Amino acid sequence: MTEVPLSSCYRLLGHGPVLLVSTRGLLHPNVAPIAWHSPFDRDPPQFLLTISSGHATFENLLREGELVLNVPGPDLASAVLAAGRVSAHEVPDKFSHLGLRALPSARVSAPRVEGCLAWIECRLVDESLARSQEIVRVEAVRAETVEGAWSEGFLDIERFPTLHHLGGSRLGVLRSLLPS
Ligand SMILES: Cc1cc2nc3c(=O)[nH]c(=O)nc-3n(C[C@H](O)[C@H](O)[C@H](O)COP(=O)(O)O)c2cc1C
Repeated sequence: MTEVPLSSCYRLLGHGPVLLVSTRGLLHPNVAPIAWHSPFDRDPPQFLLTISSGHATFENLLREGELVLNVPGPDLASAVLAAGRVSAHEVPDKFSHLGLRALPSARVSAPRVEGCLAWIECRLVDESLARSQEIVRVEAVRAETVEGAWSEGFLDIERFPTLHHLGGSRLGVLRSLLPS
């Protein structure tokens, strides 16, 4: 693992990859794809996500105050779609159902998803915004990538491409960099 400075962790999400958001549940950890998100501030490092209040993920987050933003690669494309088709309200142990493994996080009790490219561990910072607008504002407390994916201050998308949601069940992959 490579630790990413919190002041730079917006660079893991600024290009809009679909995320697997993992939370701690009462009985089982949970995981759901979230495509609607944005960096909000660099210092403190904060992000906004739109998460429907009907999702088990939302309930877990409001109860526990923590989540992990997991950045999956193309090998997890089918798991991303499958995780979006079922709710933990119907299938309580989605990790097992999807064949995913939960790993312990460094700073929060919500787990990480094994096999992802990067992880941002976060705490909820504005509960009233979440309850009134379903807009979740979280602050990063730890960010890491798999070894080699964080290169010269950026995510190396050529070696570690990211998944992007075009709507419905359509996903694309970002893997090429233009000269700067
Ligand atoms: C690719 C993809 C992206 C999604 N993005 C969002 C999103 O940004 N916000 C949201 O509320 N739901 C989103 N969803 C829907 C939830 O992931 C889905 O309803 C999921 O089953 C909720 O699971 P849970 O109830 O176990 O938390 C998305 C689904 C897919 C497949």
